[in-house]
Amino acid sequence: MDRIRIVGGRPLSGAIPISGAKNATLPLMIASLLTEDTLILDNVPRLADVNLLQRILGNHGVDIMVGGKRPGDTEYQGQSLHISAAHIVDTTAPYELVSKMRASFWVIAPLVARMGEATVSMPGGCAIGTRPVDLLIMVLERLGAAIEIDGGYVIARAKRGLKGGEIVFPKVTVGGTHTALMAAALADGVTVIENAAREPEIGDVADCLNKMGAKISGAGTSRIIIEGVAKLSGARHSVLPDRIETGTYAMAVAMTGGDVMLEGARPELLQAALDVLAKSGVQISTTNTGIRVARNGGGIGPVEVTTDPFPGFPTDLQAQLMALMTRADGTSRITETIFENRFMHVQELVRLGARIHLDGETATIEGVRRLKGAPVMATDLRASVSLVIAALAAEGETMVNRVYHLDRGFERLEDKLVRCGADIARISG
Ligand code: UD1
Repeated sequence: MDRIRIVGGRPLSGAIPISGAKNATLPLMIASLLTEDTLILDNVPRLADVNLLQRILGNHGVDIMVGGKRPGDTEYQGQSLHISAAHIVDTTAPYELVSKMRASFWVIAPLVARMGEATVSMPGGCAIGTRPVDLLIMVLERLGAAIEIDGGYVIARAKRGLKGGEIVFPKVTVGGTHTALMAAALADGVTVIENAAREPEIGDVADCLNKMGAKISGAGTSRIIIEGVAKLSGARHSVLPDRIETGTYAMAVAMTGGDVMLEGARPELLQAALDVLAKSGVQISTTNTGIRVARNGGGIGPVEVTTDPFPGFPTDLQAQLMALMTRADGTSRITETIFENRFMHVQELVRLGARIHLDGETATIEGVRRLKGAPVMATDLRASVSLVIAALAAEGETMVNRVYHLDRGFERLEDKLVRCGADIARISG
């Protein structure tokens, strides 16, 4: 198993290119199941989760051609996928595949919408909590699918197609909203989604579906209206930049000090996080090429933050902010409202010398003058990158174990940091 060795204490300076968003790429790839024509996705990040989803879609009979580099492409240019679900040969998504990546459960919506049936393994829990799929099932039922649960599988049937309907989410769910968009796109009649997720990735998927011939309006607001169509066609779509990767590197620069240009980043995708950083004394400026983040000399001010659905502060940046606040001049409070158990990083940060007290869903972080390198363990995707951020400012060497979590969601993390002066290397084996 690979490990990452970091020697802390170096400021970051230079430029970091921001990749396409993982959380948009996955549903966009899944949307290819809605049409027999080819969907071309550009700016796709090179990530373990993308490779795994290629395998899962391949199991349904989807052909994927990965476009190579073109003259003039830079080293960090995303890849292009040509995805063709002309013939769906299998409507079952087995446990062995779905259990490796929760988002693969989302294939259920396009499969039942286009093929009239789908059998998809329930994903099970994960390190950040129970993460049920009841609201995704509710969506399919509201649109007329008959649901049966058997042997750990959800079997959805709608032999005569799905029917438009009203969906009112009792809580904001990204996966539930993706499911509703994809199912309603091919349903007969109009669907109205109330309390829809407003995450930018929802808007990106809706844009792509509209290019494919869907009739979706209101994406990006909490009320989305979908007029079902009989058929969708192919399209070409470029994945939006990854706001979580952007926020992660912004926090890394805030942590080490220095001055870095986050190339291709778009501030409106993470305004809440940028506001928090500005409040803690980090200089943030926007240019037409991206977001510039700098901290020269000044300390890190403590903050009080609660995670919320978009446009609030994202849960996917909570661990990274906590790492930053371990070095703040004062006491910070971070409350996690989205996932019940998303504090796996706390004990590992404590191993580096952080002072953190947990009380239910609130963490109180007392800033310390110094962190000290130690061996630590990555527990989930965002938690593992928070350990990297802490290690970049810790004295001496930190060894981050189980880095496969990082490879799921961060493209060439060590390369991007090395280019800005970090002492970080992957140790294979
Ligand atoms: C997506 C993101 C993930 C992010 C999360 C919240 C992807 C691939 N993943 O995950 O990175 O952390 O949004 O922004 O885009 N819930 C239910 N029943 C359901 C579904 C969800 O109770 O059927 C609950 C969850 O347990 C959680 C909350 O709703 O407490 C939000 O979850 P949701 O937005 O659905 O997260 P994901 O779509 O799985």
